[in-house]
Amino acid sequence: MSMHGVNNEDNTELSKAESKAVRERSLKLLFELVRPIRARLAVSFSMILVSRLLGVVGPGLIAVAIDSAIPMALKGDMQLAWLTAGAYLVAAIGSASLMAYFLVYAQRTNQGVLFEIRDRLFRHTQRLSLEFHEKYTSGRVISRQTNDIDAIKELLDVGGNEMIAGILMMIFTAVALATIDLTSFLILTCSFVPLFFLTYWFQKQTKYWYRKSRVASAKLIVHFVETMTGIRAVKAFRKEKRNQDSYNVLVEDYRSINAKVISIFGIYDPGLVVIGNFAVAAVLLFGGIRVIEGDLGIGVLTAAILYGKRFFDPMEQLAQFYNAYQSANSSLEKISGVLEEDLSVPDPEHPVELGEPKGHLAFEDVEFHYSNGKTILPNFNLDIPAGQTIALVGTTGAGKSTLAKLVSRFYDPSVGQVKLDDISLRDISNHDLRRAIVMVTQEAYLFSGTVGENIALGKPGATIEEIVESAKAVGVHEFIESLPDGYNTDVNKRGGRVSAGQRQLISFARAFIADPAVLILDEATASLDIPSERLVQHGLQTLLKGRTAIIIAHRLSTISIADRVLVMEHGKIIEDDKPATLIAGTGKFAKMHKAWRDSLV
Ligand SMILES: Nc1ncnc2c1ncn2[C@@H]1O[C@H](COP(=O)(O)OP(=O)(O)OP(=O)(O)O)[C@@H](O)[C@H]1O
Ligand SMILES: [Mg+2]
Repeated sequence: MSMHGVNNEDNTELSKAESKAVRERSLKLLFELVRPIRARLAVSFSMILVSRLLGVVGPGLIAVAIDSAIPMALKGDMQLAWLTAGAYLVAAIGSASLMAYFLVYAQRTNQGVLFEIRDRLFRHTQRLSLEFHEKYTSGRVISRQTNDIDAIKELLDVGGNEMIAGILMMIFTAVALATIDLTSFLILTCSFVPLFFLTYWFQKQTKYWYRKSRVASAKLIVHFVETMTGIRAVKAFRKEKRNQDSYNVLVEDYRSINAKVISIFGIYDPGLVVIGNFAVAAVLLFGGIRVIEGDLGIGVLTAAILYGKRFFDPMEQLAQFYNAYQSANSSLEKISGVLEEDLSVPDPEHPVELGEPKGHLAFEDVEFHYSNGKTILPNFNLDIPAGQTIALVGTTGAGKSTLAKLVSRFYDPSVGQVKLDDISLRDISNHDLRRAIVMVTQEAYLFSGTVGENIALGKPGATIEEIVESAKAVGVHEFIESLPDGYNTDVNKRGGRVSAGQRQLISFARAFIADPAVLILDEATASLDIPSERLVQHGLQTLLKGRTAIIIAHRLSTISIADRVLVMEHGKIIEDDKPATLIAGTGKFAKMHKAWRDSLV
């Protein structure tokens, strides 16, 4: 399925073909999950089958005991009494221990399946392109990993096991009852009529309300995640009260829906008990009459009553199973939807060997639009020789970051090619690409771990000397030394907290240690003060030697180290020359530069 493929996320009505596609991909996933464990499932099923068979002989043995063994024992023949008592004991112990072993065994299988889903989901979601993540909010991603996996867990935990056990138990009980006393069995079947209607009603209701409950809880998660990821904006705009209010509405919704679900159980459960008791009373009444008339042994009647009572036990679980199945199914559909999302910037199947990259970049007849369709780069051509340092400037929204993201292949162009050393980026393996092209943005994200580890991310296996060297190169060494544990300071611990500018410097060191052929800096010095920026630029000059660089900055100080300036407007390069030539001219850049210089004094 493509990016614009089927997603029944919002419960919108799907066409027949679409529902079929959703069902098929969901089944395919289920099949893939079940295939490796089919032997274990067969073992599970056999265990439960034997356990239920052993469980069902109990009342039958009681019938034999009352009707035959006790009368014989009273006459002094104990043999049958011992036999039935022994058989009863063996069956009970056997059934119980098989059940116990089965539960552990099945749990292990289930956990394996859940592990597999979690693992696949994480791996795939992480590999999906930025385009996907911009469209699919983090709240929804989290919902897949939490709510949906829980629904499947529920089905596996309770649903699966109990359902098989329950169905087997009902069948065996019915067969046993029919065998020992057909009349009682027929009386019992009369109760199926009210049972059917009650269960039908129950299922319809719970299906409806469970669905509402799942939607409500997903909304809760999305709201929560949005508030917490945007917590700075929430505080800056004092939106706590408003958020709290809307959250409370959602919580109340969720609560009232759950209350409704409980009230449905409040009708169904007692309903089952009443029907069950009526059925057993009827068996007892008619059985009693037959006992008095001498047509029926009292032992058989006892067994019939025991069977009758047992017959209704699994009913509720069965009715519930259907719901667990429904919600797990819809979760599986959603998860399979994410798993089927194509990687929109896929790794090439037959990558072209990049070798030692030189850093020659070219845009050839590129056209680009984001998924919303608006063209950002119309017919774009650009050639950047290896080793050149480019300053890319232009108004806000001109498309500078878009260009940078195309070079780092966060996206592929809609039309045309971006090439590195005359090889289309589409044909370069991800591994080679990440080695050759590094982008540093304003975001400068630090992962949990130490400062040193964060720098070493740029070059797995880097020595401490290399780490220190790169930190020195960007002028962040003294700062890191001043942290409580130096390079071993944990960035998430107290004392390890660093400012936005310090984060940028650390991410610079990370880029430098990577030693890429192409380096892109998108507003990467925006959070630095003038002295730190100078320091970085000083370092840049030496470090950019022999490297292709694209530097995007609003502060025009960068142009002092650039070989060439590109001015971008509405997705087009409108000026392209040496900095000095442009400054001396009368174009857009000359104006920008003058305005910038005036602002400095
Ligand atoms: N993920 C996206 N989806 C859709 N449109 C986008 C996306 N990112 C950017 N755009 C649009 O693309 C255009 C260019 O954005 P871009 O971020 O490349 O501008 P920029 O030149 O880097 O601006 P700035 O100087 O503000 O960083 C803008 O009109 C923007 O609205
Ligand atoms: Mg930008």
